[in-house]
Amino acid sequence: MAINAAITAVGGYLPEYRLTNAVLETMVDTSDEWITTRTGIKERRILREKGKGVSSMGIKAAQEVLDKRGIGPEEIDVVIFCTVTPDMPVANTASYVISEMGMNNAFGFDLQAACSGFLFGLTTGSQYIESGRFKKVLIVSGDKMSSIIDYSDRTTCVIFGDGCGAVLLEPNEEGLGVQDTILRSDGVGRQYLNIKAGGSQYPPSKETVELGQHFVHQEGQQVFKFAVTNMAEVSARIMERNNLSSDDVAWLVPHQANKRIIDATAKRMGLSSEKVMLNIDRYGNTTNGTLPLCLWDYEKQLKKGDNLVFAAFGGGFTWGAIYLKWAIDAK
Ligand code: UT7
Repeated sequence: MAINAAITAVGGYLPEYRLTNAVLETMVDTSDEWITTRTGIKERRILREKGKGVSSMGIKAAQEVLDKRGIGPEEIDVVIFCTVTPDMPVANTASYVISEMGMNNAFGFDLQAACSGFLFGLTTGSQYIESGRFKKVLIVSGDKMSSIIDYSDRTTCVIFGDGCGAVLLEPNEEGLGVQDTILRSDGVGRQYLNIKAGGSQYPPSKETVELGQHFVHQEGQQVFKFAVTNMAEVSARIMERNNLSSDDVAWLVPHQANKRIIDATAKRMGLSSEKVMLNIDRYGNTTNGTLPLCLWDYEKQLKKGDNLVFAAFGGGFTWGAIYLKWAIDAK
């Protein structure tokens, strides 16, 4: 039988501090009512300790994966760190995680596909496993969004939060694991969702900082239109081409950008709300963190053989869907 890449352990980490809608009401002109009805978010977590980057959360999530699977760091072959908020623009975060955790036999790199990063990372990691050359691939996926958000801009500061998840991929020859993936990209998106300065096109300067161009800028309504159409479309397509009916799908694992986008995707797939993983109310949009943190929260409810459909849409634009058979026996 062919080798599939299966998820064999899940970890997660969220900072302790909870930034509630009530506190945001004191910071910008917004209301709990607006945030709840437009997005579904009640609170988000913020990493407040100075000098701590996304790696500090990634290391904790990765350690939980190793502990749950009962393996040592030297057994990991590859680390892919999916993030838009690396510790530093140069010196990849994966290398730091590798050396901090003593993964002496691993190589690693960062992957940037915005909110779809986990899907791109899972697909990339799966190729290493399916090739037969690598046995243990760690996908760490999350963001410290608070480091790139302008807390005086009400259109973005109410949406995003910090958090990180991690999964281990291993070979499976029983037909479980990743079954099919659809990934898409379209550069039309960069005018609607970007950080304009700080890269090679507009290097950071006094002027770019004064203009706030090092913060996330989003034209929400435009992004919403693309997201709602494309996330639903790829999710329906991956069901069709794998002959999955809505009864066959045990869970939708959707990117958590907006409860209304999630509801539209579930509706298009014919799924009732009990089959939809949600954490946006508690964590907001953690960008690369949303999907693995959903798995982390719902892990106890998953059964070996369950059909999961992951779907995401994000900056770039990037979007996609993955069909995966769950491979872990609930304890
Ligand atoms: O994860 C990556 C991909 N990102 C997404 O998928 C996000 C997609 N977009 C969205 O989820 C939604 O567009 C938002 C949640 C970002 C915004 O919701 P919306 O329903 O599209 O609102 P809007 O931008 O059309 O704004 C409606 C009104 C505006 O006021 P006027 O012009 O009608 O007077 C905004 O100024 O709401 C105002 N507004 C706010 N009011 C209170 C915008 N932000 C806020 C706020 N509190 N925080």
